[in-house]
Formats: sequence, structure tokens, C-alpha cells
Amino acid sequence: MREFLIFSRTARTGGKINPKNLFQEGRLDIIRDFIIEAFFTANKKRSAIVHCFLYGQPNPPLHLTITSSAPASIDRIKTATLLVDLVSKKKKIKGCEMKKESIIEFLTKASKTKTIYLLDKKGKSIDELKSLPNAIFCFADHLGFPKKEFKRISTISSETISLGKQTYFAYQSLTLLQYFLDKKEFE
Ligand SMILES: C[S@@+](CC[C@H](N)C(=O)[O-])C[C@H]1O[C@@H](n2cnc3c(N)ncnc32)[C@H](O)[C@@H]1O
Repeated sequence: MREFLIFSRTARTGGKINPKNLFQEGRLDIIRDFIIEAFFTANKKRSAIVHCFLYGQPNPPLHLTITSSAPASIDRIKTATLLVDLVSKKKKIKGCEMKKESIIEFLTKASKTKTIYLLDKKGKSIDELKSLPNAIFCFADHLGFPKKEFKRISTISSETISLGKQTYFAYQSLTLLQYFLDKKEFE
């Protein structure tokens, strides 16, 4: 099963959040679009796990885990509402979990059983990779990773992977990665 991670420095972690305007909520729209891209193609729902690390105010860091059985949808408002409910701990949601955990705590633990890949345009070309077993692929939002986290994640990661010279939005990078994995028939 494919496993993805997205980090956001600014995404809101509590308070009153408007699901109809996630752009104004510390760019939670980036997290919503990433989730939709992780799970949906035109004709099927993918099996995947998405880890979202939210470092905005008022309650960072939050680690949201969203799996295929969660009520995510191609309807952006529905997926936005799922995110808002999760962040505001309104109710228990099927296929989802929310906890207070930093990205470094999580990746340090995960790296004992999984291979961590960091997505960055200065990395090794994705075309050079032969196989990507048991992987967690890590992306950041529009601001990128803070320097300190980037350094730590680079040391925890097995490889930094580049999709080319262009800087893409996180969800576009995920589309390209999914295309590459599909073409190579890597699960
Ligand atoms: C909009 S970009 C971040 C731009 C940010 N200013 C920076 O310099 O990191 C969002 C994320 O998409 C991924 N990404 C974008 N372009 C990429 C590329 N050419 N190769 C690999 N990953 C890329 C990275 O994970 C990046 O953190």
C-alpha cells in the first residue's frame, strides 16, 4: 500500500475553521488537495495512507492519519469538512486518527520498518530508482520544510527524489509520483 506524508508550517490546528475557505485557514486547501490526489483516479479509489503534519496555530504539531476507509471524497467540500472535523476533534471518524506528534518523532519511529523518501527538486532523478519498497514519500506545502526539519528528514531518509527542475505544487508532485509508480507497477 502506498504511504504519503505532507507537512504544513501554517495549516490551522484548531479553533473555528471554515471548510468553504481553507485557503484562508493557513492553506489547509493544500492538505485537502493532496488527500484527494492520494486516493482518487478517474475510475477507482486507491489503497493508501496519508499522514498530514500540521504546524499552524493554535495547537501544533498535529499528526492526522487518513486511510482508504475514511470518508474522503472528490467533492472538495466533503473532504474539507472531514479535515475540519478531524482537526477540531468533533467526533471519531472511520479510517482516521489524530494525535499530537511531531514529524521527526513519527519518521524516526517509522524508519525502523519503512524506507523514507524525501521529495525535493535537488534530489536524485526518480528515473534512476530501481524499486521503492515499503516506502513513505514525504512532501511539504508551498513554504517547503523549515531548515531544521529538512536537515533531520534528509538524514532519516534513504534517498531524496527529484521529479525534475520545475517546482510543482505538492498535489502535482504527488500526481507525477503516482504516475511513475503506476507505470513501474510498484505498489
Ligand atoms: C510548492 S513545492 C515547495 C516550494 C518551496 N518554496 C520549497 O522551496 O521547498 C511543494 C512540495 O512539492 C514537492 N516538489 C515540488 N517540485 C518538486 C520536484 N521538482 N521534485 C521533487 N519534489 C518536488 C516537494 O516536496 C515540495 O516541498
